[in-house]
Amino acid sequence: MELALYDPDGGYYAAGRARIGRSGDFFTNVSVGPLFGALLARQVLELRGMLGNPDRFLVVEQGANDGQLAKDVLDGLRAAGCGDIPYWIVEPFENRRTEQSLTLQGENVRWVASPDELPQGSGVHLSNELFDALPFDIAESNGSRWHLMAVEERGDGFGFVDGPPVDHLPGRPAGFRFEVRRDQKGLLRSLANRLTRGFLLIIDYGFERDELLAPHRSGGTLACYKAHRRDDAPLENPGRKDITAHVDFTTLREEAVSVGWRAEAMLDQHRFMVGAAESLLKSLDGRLPDAASAKILQQWRTLMHPSTMGTQFRAALFSNGVDCPAGRPSGFRYARKSDRED
Ligand SMILES: C[S@@+](CC[C@H](N)C(=O)[O-])C[C@H]1O[C@@H](n2cnc3c(N)ncnc32)[C@H](O)[C@@H]1O
Repeated sequence: MELALYDPDGGYYAAGRARIGRSGDFFTNVSVGPLFGALLARQVLELRGMLGNPDRFLVVEQGANDGQLAKDVLDGLRAAGCGDIPYWIVEPFENRRTEQSLTLQGENVRWVASPDELPQGSGVHLSNELFDALPFDIAESNGSRWHLMAVEERGDGFGFVDGPPVDHLPGRPAGFRFEVRRDQKGLLRSLANRLTRGFLLIIDYGFERDELLAPHRSGGTLACYKAHRRDDAPLENPGRKDITAHVDFTTLREEAVSVGWRAEAMLDQHRFMVGAAESLLKSLDGRLPDAASAKILQQWRTLMHPSTMGTQFRAALFSNGVDCPAGRPSGFRYARKSDRED
């Protein structure tokens, strides 16, 4: 998966083959339109306020692909009179950086190749669909124990063979699959070391671990996307399509907490959108021509509706070195008490 997506010469993302949006391979919150970034900009400002509006404050995005979300967030910050906040992008791939710098010409953006290169201090780390795209192993149960699935060359192609055993998963019937992300904790640790007073705002699709281990999900959640068609054959045409799996939010939370983050809240995107949109919609009231209002409403519907992005996606908030009162920022206002985890 690492080579298929991130090999600098042939990887789907690293070599610049990924196409997102209507004429590409899949949609994201970002490709729906600028509303998503405008909402995130407001969340960033609320989080900055909770940090006491420090002079030195970083907005960091990781998984920025073509730079469109950065553009939308920066437009939102500017609209709120805060266009001078420096925006950092963590981007390991030269090719992506080039595309991002074209999208972001004239903007106050700085790039680093890894989170470890970020300055230490106060800030917010944003990501949309980063964690699902981190390389994972597939663990498979043989009925009595789990093992990772390894890949070998077979003729002109590739095949799966049994790899090393895995011992931390509960018993499941033979053939049951579950995806395990090996680099996630290291990333969370690096971010905790850099954002010593700050927040992680993670938006992605996924479930709690017990939902991923439920009997009806015995095949795991791996999916490949090309031209809006989904398949489950990651070893075919590597580098030509996206490979993803749902985020295991239980493991994400446990790993984040184990490296120093405090889990503040997690909720479905539709509830996040309702809270996050209230102040934005109030500020726009009566100031938009009808055509623009219709476009915004269409984007809002797509981001919110349960049959599109509303219930598949979740927003998660983690804090480090700062108090975060329940119900703040506004995107998490409608998190239920049981959604708040310590
Ligand atoms: C599914 S795409 C999401 C793109 C964009 N955020 C959006 O929502 O449209 C995943 C992105 O994460 C990036 N990515 C994966 N691992 C990364 C890492 N360790 N550091 C920075 N970016 C990474 C990929 O290159 C790709 O741009």
